Amino acid sequence: MSIPNLRTVEVDDIQLIRFWRNLDHINSRMVIKDVIDFDAQRDWYDSLDLEKTKYFIYSFEKKDIGLATISKIDYENKTFEGGIQCGDINYLGHWINIWACIKIYNLAFFDLKMETAFAKILSNNNSALRLNKTIGYEFISEVEKGVGKYILSKKNFLNKSKKIQSYLKSLDSNF
Ligand SMILES: CC(C)(COP(=O)(O)OP(=O)(O)OC[C@H]1O[C@@H](n2cnc3c(N)ncnc32)[C@H](O)[C@@H]1OP(=O)(O)O)[C@@H](O)C(=O)NCCC(=O)NCCS
Repeated sequence: MSIPNLRTVEVDDIQLIRFWRNLDHINSRMVIKDVIDFDAQRDWYDSLDLEKTKYFIYSFEKKDIGLATISKIDYENKTFEGGIQCGDINYLGHWINIWACIKIYNLAFFDLKMETAFAKILSNNNSALRLNKTIGYEFISEVEKGVGKYILSKKNFLNKSKKIQSYLKSLDSNF
């Protein structure tokens, strides 16, 4: 069986990420919908504070599938924002997306010693709402029309993801 993999984004990956970000199935579900051009992507990458932002590409069956992000890391308050984008439309609904999701939250809560995650999600983005609910996110409030803010404590994450984590271990012995 093909082994799932998570790797840190390098400069050579940024145009692939841009390509994914501009695809309709992703762009239409983002809060900010600007179409990003080649140079803007380069400027965005150069401006990243890599202490506060960890970007990963997840792959499966020797294909790059999507992007998993830990951003706005606040080491003092132990908070961050998490995000997943499945770039390859053929893998929507595949367990690799939840694999990547759980992987980055484990990384943030355990390796980076975070305590709380936040996410902003469009109210009509049912896939993202379902995925985030599965791992324990709870609604806080509507921050702007059609955009909800959600919170996830480490405790909730551990409780809610326990079963999925053991399922993922059965699919991937390295998990
Ligand atoms: C969030 C995301 C990673 C969830 O992936 P997932 O858990 O594998 O997706 P789901 O299992 O919820 O998908 C279920 C169904 O919705 C469809 N679907 C999911 N996301 C879709 C999308 N962005 N566009 C079109 N169809 C989509 C799938 O094809 C699947 O259809 P089916 O029920 O006929 O099989 C993925 O939907 C995605 O990358 N969305 C775009 C980016 C995004 O919204 N990220 C979150 C921002 S907060």
